[in-house]
Amino acid sequence: MSELTEIYYFSGTGNSFQLACDIADRLPNCAVIKMTEYNNEPVCADRVGVIFPVYMWGIPKYVSEFLKRLNIGKDKYIFAAATYGGSAGKALDIAQEILERRGLQLSAGFLVRMPDNYIIGYNAPSEKKQAKLFKAEKHKAEHIAQTVGYMKKPDIEKSRLVFDRIFAGVLYKKLNGVHDMDKGFTVNDKCTSCGKCVNVCPVGNIKLTDGKPQWTHRCELCLGCLQRCPARAIDYKNKTRNRKRYVNSVYKCSDGSK
Ligand SMILES: Cc1cc2nc3c(=O)[nH]c(=O)nc-3n(C[C@H](O)[C@H](O)[C@H](O)COP(=O)(O)O)c2cc1C
Repeated sequence: MSELTEIYYFSGTGNSFQLACDIADRLPNCAVIKMTEYNNEPVCADRVGVIFPVYMWGIPKYVSEFLKRLNIGKDKYIFAAATYGGSAGKALDIAQEILERRGLQLSAGFLVRMPDNYIIGYNAPSEKKQAKLFKAEKHKAEHIAQTVGYMKKPDIEKSRLVFDRIFAGVLYKKLNGVHDMDKGFTVNDKCTSCGKCVNVCPVGNIKLTDGKPQWTHRCELCLGCLQRCPARAIDYKNKTRNRKRYVNSVYKCSDGSK
């Protein structure tokens, strides 16, 4: 296992980042790279991992664009892992289709259940439930590292829920308008103009105008700004005011803060 591995991740609240790090810890010569820092340079690694959250039973728009522009030879071993909160829909099928259309092969694909961060729909899971999920995640990371370490090509994992696989296409269509969905964010008087939302947005979609966040319609709806605001000043429409926030504890800003 002396080959080089690169893992590209996209993450709003840290689950996918945690998985990327846990897999990397178990592989020699493995780099973990933010997907948003990839500038189309040719990939030299022998093994490439792509790790991201499931959005609307599919994959974030940013991730589909990344898969379309990944500059990689057809001989490379590519694996994907999608973290999800409860129903993974057709996330890996979508990733596989994009790669296949480019003549590339998805050699392995894994689904990893993590705490659900979709605060627009649900409260964050209890600490007890989170701990259980994280324990299972460590085992899964071990399994993934073993599988990809030996460049095995198992079946791509699929959601066992018939319902979400059948209706995945319907919900996934909602993501077509995702960039404008930031029109639903609101900011209240508790905002201290700290700029953390600007700092944590993975796609640089937020700027401060008169000290308040302004979303510039390139949103991926990762909810990092809302979940990680230290003053709880950001909400989505009228849906999140009383909901518990979620941030994976491994996630830190470049200045070391959560
Ligand atoms: C916009 C959005 C849509 C989501 N859609 C789904 C979904 O369809 N199915 C699911 O199981 N989880 C869904 N989730 C939950 C995330 O996939 C899950 O919590 C993931 O681990 C978050 O990863 P991150 O912390 O790396 O951002 C969604 C989350 C967001 C923010």
